[in-house]
Amino acid sequence: MISLNNDWEFVTEWSEEFALGKGIAETVRLPHTVREVPQHYADEMSYQMVSGYRRRLVLPAEAEGQRIFVRFDGAAHIATVYLNGQELVSHACGYTAFSAELTGLVSPGEEAWLSVRLDSTENPAVPPFGFVIDYLTYGGLYRPCWLDIRPQTLIEDIYVTTPTEHTAAVTLTLSYPKDQPEPEEVPVTRIRLLDAQGDCVLEESGEQLNYTLTLSRAETWTLENPCMYTLEAALLNEDGEPTDVRRTDFGFRTAEFRADGFYLNGKKTFLRGLNRHQCYPYIGYAAPDSLQAEDARILKEELGLTAVRTSHYPQSQAFIDACDRLGLLVFTEIPGWQHIGDTNWKIQAVENVREMVKQYRNHPSVVLWGVRINESQDDDEFYRETNAVAHTLDKSRPTSGVRYLEKSSLLEDVYAFNDFSFAGQGAGVRPKEKVTPDTTRPFLVSEHNGHMFPTKPYDTWERRQAHALRHARVQNDAAGSGVHAGCFGWCMFDYPTHKDFGSGDRVCYHGVMDAFRNPKLAAALYASQQDEYPVLEIGSSMDIGDYNAGNIGDVWIFTNADEVRLYKNGDYVTAFSDSPYTALPHGPLLVDDVVGELLVSQEGYPEKKAELARQCLMAARKYGFDHLPPADKIRLGLLNSRYEFTEEEARRLYGKYVSNWGGASTVWRFDAIRDGQVVLSRTICPNTHLHLEAKISSDTLTEGDTYDMALIRLRILDENGLSAPYAQLPLHLHVSGAAQLVGPTVVTAEGGMTGCYLKTIGEAGEAVLTVIGERMSPLELHFTIRKE
Ligand code: GAL
Repeated sequence: MISLNNDWEFVTEWSEEFALGKGIAETVRLPHTVREVPQHYADEMSYQMVSGYRRRLVLPAEAEGQRIFVRFDGAAHIATVYLNGQELVSHACGYTAFSAELTGLVSPGEEAWLSVRLDSTENPAVPPFGFVIDYLTYGGLYRPCWLDIRPQTLIEDIYVTTPTEHTAAVTLTLSYPKDQPEPEEVPVTRIRLLDAQGDCVLEESGEQLNYTLTLSRAETWTLENPCMYTLEAALLNEDGEPTDVRRTDFGFRTAEFRADGFYLNGKKTFLRGLNRHQCYPYIGYAAPDSLQAEDARILKEELGLTAVRTSHYPQSQAFIDACDRLGLLVFTEIPGWQHIGDTNWKIQAVENVREMVKQYRNHPSVVLWGVRINESQDDDEFYRETNAVAHTLDKSRPTSGVRYLEKSSLLEDVYAFNDFSFAGQGAGVRPKEKVTPDTTRPFLVSEHNGHMFPTKPYDTWERRQAHALRHARVQNDAAGSGVHAGCFGWCMFDYPTHKDFGSGDRVCYHGVMDAFRNPKLAAALYASQQDEYPVLEIGSSMDIGDYNAGNIGDVWIFTNADEVRLYKNGDYVTAFSDSPYTALPHGPLLVDDVVGELLVSQEGYPEKKAELARQCLMAARKYGFDHLPPADKIRLGLLNSRYEFTEEEARRLYGKYVSNWGGASTVWRFDAIRDGQVVLSRTICPNTHLHLEAKISSDTLTEGDTYDMALIRLRILDENGLSAPYAQLPLHLHVSGAAQLVGPTVVTAEGGMTGCYLKTIGEAGEAVLTVIGERMSPLELHFTIRKE
């Protein structure tokens, strides 16, 4: 396939003259967004328009006598394709790919205008539109575009399933020229199986369209080692020469939902996931493949997830390819949000199921089809059809559909439930038997938290910690039920939304990360479930001033350490190792003691006295001295009668060991211990000097088929390298060299975090991004841009 991502011309108002090459237009490259949007207070009307894209098309000489297709991977939302003003095809789904056939309409060497009328309004005739939607739907030719030159008879599709970990069942679909009758005999086809190194490990051929390949030494696709294979299919002529060759990647794996959970290759695997939208600050949906892949990497490597739900629509092939390569399971679904439209709308939704399944069914990462409109009402006739289409096109995967309804009509194989029942207290999830009408079918939580507890990166420590703990409770209880196949949190990152949702600035602060994929505290709950790298985040800065009445209350540690040791001003206090969240691989640990051994080691208290006093001090830390629970009042009485422990003494100890009132500032140190070794250490103390940190998706960008982008995640850190959540400071961004900045040149760190994008400009060379913030050393980030 030949990339057609460059040299497009764009106008915000489509016209028939434009389609014929008349008038001037802006030159753009794909992926393209019809309008960039601000991070806050975005206007959902700003990108709603009927715009035009056009491009000169000159077919190469080898196109002579061949069939010609132009393929669009994503056009939001209704795209009508024209050649020299003649309409070829119209496609009414912004989230699936489609092709236009140009065969016979233009000869090689001849110049033609290829154009697209793109309707990015919220047209109620097509999904997801017709009522309110909690996300922005943007507009644009926002995924790659291709020219495909193929022989008259061609392989239209390869479909591979793996009924066992060693067998692959292959079905080929051929396409014959429209003006010729289909031959009665199947032509000779050849199948080659290539391993990850590209070596052919199996070859078969014959007059057939179906093959069953057995590879006894096949390497299984697992989450730890997601080994990919390539299936190459060819049509052979009489001399045995290939006339058409097509490839697809796949993996040998079995995936099964049972009544008690999800099994990958026969092994029970909990789908610990998050929901992901496909949007990015400023550029909306229009992100190049490298950024799509970066999101998958963040989910798998940084957040340690086993699964992602592509809410609420099929997402870019580059994202799913990365899920394949990284070993991240995918629950994907058709576009829609709560609303079901009229008959034609439903016909389009069924078509969307067809396209989704056909376009994504070779990905080993995809394990579940969402064939209902997210959170819609029951509509048996409609959903019988969506289920039938998915089952006909893919017998290897079950269907599901996301509802907020309990006991709704279950036509799917798996009941997916948005469980928003947890409001901070009690059980994290509803029991399966209360939710599903049929407990013999598999069951999962497709969303939780989200709007139940919007949390900004600059909210108080108390709220941010509560946010993380809410995710912990729901994930823990779902994992511990023994019957939840998985649990997907809402959601990966904060996203811009419509007027009806969000915090007033039209942002839903539902993410465990901010819009630039910087981690909030809740991200550490997820990250700490993996074992590849050590995680240690403390849910407090230990500053009384951030808490009501100065009572710090419970502090939690998010870590994957075996044990965390606490030191105060260098003196050992105590260690924490048992989590009440027992169903999580690594549940958060409660810091229920900041006095520990200090009353013995520093005050010379006998042990019994020290223990009573310690408990009273910890209670006072949580409730204040004037509001001690009865048990602690009794303890105080005991201390007084047995040891002549006075109120003055109590207050002195409180000042010294709890509030640290007036003394030199306290230095807290938390050491994460794994296998007896300190693997990570966090020092918490008041400080005044801040510095900048940048995490970049890649310092090497590639000008290939089109432009490339780097994501630069910026954080302001304190002297100890901890994030400074109240550093809402302006940062100035400046780029020089062979790249340009996407977004504003001055940004505000929100909760001490922000970001930007760097975009290549068609040239090879070097680029430097300078980040300047007052009283902080500037950062100079160097990038190399290669040209392919
Ligand atoms: C769900 C919905 C999501 C998002 C979420 C917020 O009802 O499916 O798209 O709006 O609520 O918590």
